Amino acid sequence: MCGIVGYIGTKKACPILIAGLTRLEYRGYDSAGISTIENNGLSIMKDKGRVSNLSSLKGIDDLEGTIGIAHTRWATHGKPSRENSHPHQDNSKSFSVVHNGIIENYSELKNFLEENGYKFYSQTDTEVIPNLIHYYYEKDSGNDVLRFLKAVRNACSDLRGSFAIEVISSHYPENMIVVRKDSPLVIGTCESEKYISSDIPAILSYTRDFYLLDDLEFVLLANNNARFFDNDLNEFDKKTTNIEWNAAAAEKDGYDDFMLKEIFEQPTAIRETIGSHISSDYDCDFDELNFSKTDLENINKIFIIACGTAMHAGLVGKIAFERLCRIPVEVDIASEFRYRNPIIDEHTLCIFISQSGETADTIAALKLAKSSNATTIAITNVVGSSITREADISVYTHAGPEIAVASTKAYTSQVVLIDLLAIYFAKILNRVDSEYLVDVTKDILSLPKKIEETLNCKNQVYDFAKKIYQEKDIFFLGRGIDETVAKEGSLKLKEISYIHSESYAAGELKHGPIALIENGVTVIGIMTDSSLVKKTISNLQEVITRGAKTLIITSQVIDKDMFDVVITIPESSTFTSPILSIIPLQLLAYYISKEKGLDVDKPRNLAKSVTVE
Ligand code: AGP
Ligand code: GLU
Repeated sequence: MCGIVGYIGTKKACPILIAGLTRLEYRGYDSAGISTIENNGLSIMKDKGRVSNLSSLKGIDDLEGTIGIAHTRWATHGKPSRENSHPHQDNSKSFSVVHNGIIENYSELKNFLEENGYKFYSQTDTEVIPNLIHYYYEKDSGNDVLRFLKAVRNACSDLRGSFAIEVISSHYPENMIVVRKDSPLVIGTCESEKYISSDIPAILSYTRDFYLLDDLEFVLLANNNARFFDNDLNEFDKKTTNIEWNAAAAEKDGYDDFMLKEIFEQPTAIRETIGSHISSDYDCDFDELNFSKTDLENINKIFIIACGTAMHAGLVGKIAFERLCRIPVEVDIASEFRYRNPIIDEHTLCIFISQSGETADTIAALKLAKSSNATTIAITNVVGSSITREADISVYTHAGPEIAVASTKAYTSQVVLIDLLAIYFAKILNRVDSEYLVDVTKDILSLPKKIEETLNCKNQVYDFAKKIYQEKDIFFLGRGIDETVAKEGSLKLKEISYIHSESYAAGELKHGPIALIENGVTVIGIMTDSSLVKKTISNLQEVITRGAKTLIITSQVIDKDMFDVVITIPESSTFTSPILSIIPLQLLAYYISKEKGLDVDKPRNLAKSVTVE
């Protein structure tokens, strides 16, 4: 949600900041702005609307400064407007600040500042920050840059809530200070330049060396160095992390949209996820995990906790862990888990799944699990993301940057990784036949080829999309593992086509929802489990009788004449079938959205990274 960019170096900052904001657009925002240090002081340019709107503001091309901060805002306090856009300044206009997050105690801080003579010009929570910095700066003396640092630290000590902030000051035209707490921020570094961003892909074309910040690490930047201070302002050394993603991975590479590119990247992404976890003799291992048999026998309950698509990957994980490890699993929506007083103790394992690693609800649930002594494992795609710094252990999907808001390759790579984790646990626990585990492992290895084969359904899906793109309601049905895919297919469609859709366990239909089935309505059936296919066909028969038209995704031999369109996908095990059966549904959502002329990659009201609760 929203984004921050910063530059401190030897080139003109403005074009670099605008390019960075453009790359962060996918995160979702309503306003944009920048502030640079010019010869005559701090400049501010900002307005509501798109980054292209900002870049066409009069005078923006005249900005010469080589230090600047920039922001895309996703309004939490105060409507989208020029006044509420960031950057915000203190009353003396000597500090410019951009902020992502929420200051929960802003009204109390605002009262305090007003009592001390400060005036406010916006409705944002953010505006207290530059004024607090000014307040503390004025209480101090000296002109040393540490006075600036102390003022920022003191201001941050007063803030409750979440923040990633960048601060520049006309008093210190060669510096910038950045800090984060529960909101993402990374620093890319080259010899005489520093790039700051909310996420890695936005600045990957400049550097692969990143400082990944922990909460409340204060960074004093100059173009040729980065000094790190803890909350007591003790200086410490910080190492850079080399990020393996390449810049091309964050570009469209000839595709019309990131989503389509990411759908077609799935064979490669899954190869990367499997990586070196499977040896030539089909043994499954994780270097980062070190569980003994006793450790795992001590686990009597697993929670898999996530949001949205990542939660749907968790539903597949439940089936894998329960069948292969014989441990009961509950899958929870992160925003619900926290408030239902879950029963957790030292015998509980909590697995958190998050593509971005920055989802506020998931992070909050993780903190709760840790405070109850559970063992915590994070499955994420982003190295160094907030979730990886909270969890006991982190394992990575290595799917490469996912830019489209609608998650595709992250989902399939999450399913593969959670399957691999379940196999690894099962191997140690030895509760199922080892030959069976080898079969499941072989099945995982066959996935990239099977995904390539499945992607060949593209034209068939496109033709179907052209027939149904104007519909108002679509139903998704499946049983067992296929119900989890029905849920994900339905979410994908809602997100980017704005068509209302429902997903149901096929057998549940007759207990109510069948009342909604009328002549011409589209029902999509997923059937990959040979033991359930007959039952699902009976349920589909019930909707056909009531006039529904049907699209079937199946790996089974069925009577195709019964249905309007049948897409056949390769056969695979229960644990891996969602990786194949979701592909036609990802493509269906994509083509419907295109037919409707919608913005596939940046659907309305949604953000890629949901950093507020
Ligand atoms: C997926 O298409 C959605 N945009 C959304 O449900 C997403 O999966 C959810 O917000 C969780 O995000 P995360 O994986 O980054 O935690
Ligand atoms: N809470 C701040 C505001 O409403 C920042 C929102 C954001 O993260 O963009 O202005």
